[in-house]
Amino acid sequence: MHIAMIGSGYVGLVSGTCFAEMGNFVWCVDVDREKIDGLQNGKVPIYEPGLEEMVIRNSKEARLRFTTDFSEAIPGADICFIAVGTPPGEDGSADISYVLEAAKTIAKEMTGPTVIVDKSTVPVGTSEIVRRTIEKSLAERGVSFDFDVVSNPEFLKEGVAIDDFMRPDRVVVGCGSERAERVMRELYEPFTRNQHPIYFMDIKSAEIAKYAANAMLATRISFMNEIAELCDRVGGDINNVRIGIGSDNRIGMSFLYAGTGYGGSCVPKDVKELIAVGARNGIDMAVTRAVETVNERQKGVLVRGVVGRYGEDLTGRSFAIWGLAFKPQTDDMREAPSIVIIEELIRRGARVRAFDPEAFGQARLYLGKHLNSIEFIDDQYAVLDGADALLLVTEWKQFRQPDFDRIKAALRDPVVFDGRNQFDPAKMKAMGFAYFSIGRGQ
Ligand SMILES: NC(=O)c1ccc[n+]([C@@H]2O[C@H](COP(=O)([O-])OP(=O)(O)OC[C@H]3O[C@@H](n4cnc5c(N)ncnc54)[C@H](O)[C@@H]3O)[C@@H](O)[C@H]2O)c1
Repeated sequence: MHIAMIGSGYVGLVSGTCFAEMGNFVWCVDVDREKIDGLQNGKVPIYEPGLEEMVIRNSKEARLRFTTDFSEAIPGADICFIAVGTPPGEDGSADISYVLEAAKTIAKEMTGPTVIVDKSTVPVGTSEIVRRTIEKSLAERGVSFDFDVVSNPEFLKEGVAIDDFMRPDRVVVGCGSERAERVMRELYEPFTRNQHPIYFMDIKSAEIAKYAANAMLATRISFMNEIAELCDRVGGDINNVRIGIGSDNRIGMSFLYAGTGYGGSCVPKDVKELIAVGARNGIDMAVTRAVETVNERQKGVLVRGVVGRYGEDLTGRSFAIWGLAFKPQTDDMREAPSIVIIEELIRRGARVRAFDPEAFGQARLYLGKHLNSIEFIDDQYAVLDGADALLLVTEWKQFRQPDFDRIKAALRDPVVFDGRNQFDPAKMKAMGFAYFSIGRGQ
């Protein structure tokens, strides 16, 4: 099939590359010239394991091409995907202006029947707005083509995006015509043949399913963070509680970790949109609002620990941070808890020394106004030199079994604030560390 992928960010690039890997001809289009220039030269703008090699291979074999010129990509495409950003607006509602801009561009360039697939995460009802936008633009051109608008929300996880796309837990497709269903079934056939289901449903259910999925995941995290706070107050260990409840197969173990709060490009903004869509329709999304409130509070948990030990004023102190990206295996800094933690330490007068295996480039952008107070140090042990304490914020694998003697030798005092419960409190104590973690009764 010939595919045009409008938007070559995280989702567009991963999906486009995976479709090309299966033998399709894919044009990835973007308005960002620098991004496209880089991609044309095999430079992948994000850190995602396995992606660069696949991009280079499929480009060499001429199945995957990159352009800023929509007239190269859209005419003749069997399927046009919209995979542009939907950032939160002022009131938390998802901003669909990029989606509608992409829809207009498709309408301007299409030359025959096409299936238009919304892969961006969009508020319920957007596919209908996209359909009307395209109809209007085609009428303005004085042409008429058959087209379908389909909702195909993406559930990939950054860090394991290729695997998620190639072997999805499920593919969700909202569509209203047999022709669109046939095309989508054929497109996803290589990805769904080994017990990976594809579910067809009405468009609105597909649009809501994406928000409901992220809000459910956020709910699990906030719930565990709330229980962790209780453990810290009254005794008890959140890890034991996790085992106690996760072994119930109605609950399950995954996504039941206490930490420094959820972040990233999707979950926070999707939670906000769900609250906003409820409000627009006269519903108080009370559960989802509580999830967000707990998360905001949780981002302060490590700094509350620091303040508990050193006092409100941190002037003259320096703290080492392990991990900046919102989660391991990505360089994505969008809504990363590390930003809130670092800003709060600096606001209280501290200096910050930071290490992350991949996210320095993005971190410099997101922490730009604080660069005078932050040093980025490209070594997980050198970053500790002379710091008052270590704050572990993102659980990269290389932090799991570190050299504790080196940590002890490098820090001014052996103090570790562990935002991801990576270490054993009893062992840490035996090694002479003052050790603070989340929900383990200290
Ligand atoms: N990142 C994820 O893990 C993830 C997972 C599932 C769903 N989503 C959803 O997918 C959508 C895209 O997210 P992302 O993380 O890939 O965003 P992104 O910011 O990484 O990429 C969006 C890209 O779209 C481009 N763009 C904007 N307007 C355009 C236009 N009119 N024509 C062509 N290109 C245009 C931008 O330049 C950018 O490169 C969002 O709705 C997001 O919520 C993201």
